Amino acid sequence: MAIGSKKPTFLSMDLGTANTLVYIAGQGIVYNEPSIVAYRIKENKIIAVGAEAYKMIGKGNKTIRVVRPMVDGVITDIRATEAQLRYIFTKLRISKQLRNSIMLLACPSVITELEKTALKKIAVNLGADQVFVEEEVKMAALGGGVNIYAPTGNLIVDMGGGTTDIAVLASGDIVLSKSIKVAGNYLNDECQKFIRSQYGLEIGSKTGESIKVNIGSLTKYPDERRMKVYGRDVVSGLPREIEITPEEIREVLKVPVSRIIDLTVQVLEETPPELAGDIFRNGITICGGGALIRGIDKYFADTLQLPTKVGEQPLLAVINGTKKFESEIWEVIKAQRMHTEN
Ligand SMILES: Nc1ncnc2c1ncn2[C@@H]1O[C@H](COP(=O)(O)OP(=O)(O)OP(=O)(O)O)[C@@H](O)[C@H]1O
Ligand SMILES: [Mg+2]
Repeated sequence: MAIGSKKPTFLSMDLGTANTLVYIAGQGIVYNEPSIVAYRIKENKIIAVGAEAYKMIGKGNKTIRVVRPMVDGVITDIRATEAQLRYIFTKLRISKQLRNSIMLLACPSVITELEKTALKKIAVNLGADQVFVEEEVKMAALGGGVNIYAPTGNLIVDMGGGTTDIAVLASGDIVLSKSIKVAGNYLNDECQKFIRSQYGLEIGSKTGESIKVNIGSLTKYPDERRMKVYGRDVVSGLPREIEITPEEIREVLKVPVSRIIDLTVQVLEETPPELAGDIFRNGITICGGGALIRGIDKYFADTLQLPTKVGEQPLLAVINGTKKFESEIWEVIKAQRMHTEN
């Protein structure tokens, strides 16, 4: 596609299951809100997006439908995704800048070619001149502070809302990766299920998430405190309050996180020996919102006997990675131009 003489704006997006982020060169991260869209059913009209729509989860009525356009790291609702982005760009008043832009999209590694094409189409429909797609786990590693360009192996675990992606990277590329639909949302569900089975109390998904964030951990931590939880008694149907402890939630979270560790072992088993040796020295870097669970690094390190650290700014790792990747995109564009001129 032809690019005008004025230097296009570089723009990137992390379309996550839980959060959507937008970066514009020269402006920084201009949007960082939950990936949620609320519709008025009758007119099929968007009435809220992001944080505003998040407040409506579980509190909607018959006239409002609240959807997550990306579920389990896959675009389940292309129309909702496009509408969400259009709404965001209009709200941010950046629709005009899109008309002469280069857009980099970070997408899940499990995405199909069909979904990739659909994503690119959305970006073009929004006005982008040229669209690039990069795997989000690679962007997460870059943004998390891993030197992915070094000729040495690194292992990255990106635990988001819908999926956990585990990848080995070396010399700027993914050597192998695996993905599992056990991540933040799954952990919230496990907290919800535990409260129901142990206390006979029904709670919503938002309360499940607040338990995980407020007292969730994988190893013991200082100042552990009980947490009050409100919900509805499954027998009487009446509202009730209970108190839960960090210890019991720790046991709940250990089960799904162990499944992620098992998959990490599988990745390591398939890693070429030279790179496995590098990982033994370089260790594991955890990114994504899941990296904020207390003690997750220690739990990985103790179980796998490998040095493990939490990457820089885990919730911003992917978008920060796209930011660092901008120079590579310009190199590609330059090479493309030289190729067409010759
Ligand atoms: N302090 C915290 N402790 C534990 N979990 C947290 C914390 N803060 C955020 N999270 C969790 O992180 C998850 C969101 O992470 P992130 O923004 O990386 O996901 P995403 O990129 O939108 O999802 P995906 O990559 O799967 O598409 C949510 O499940 C949220 O509950
Ligand atoms: Mg993500």
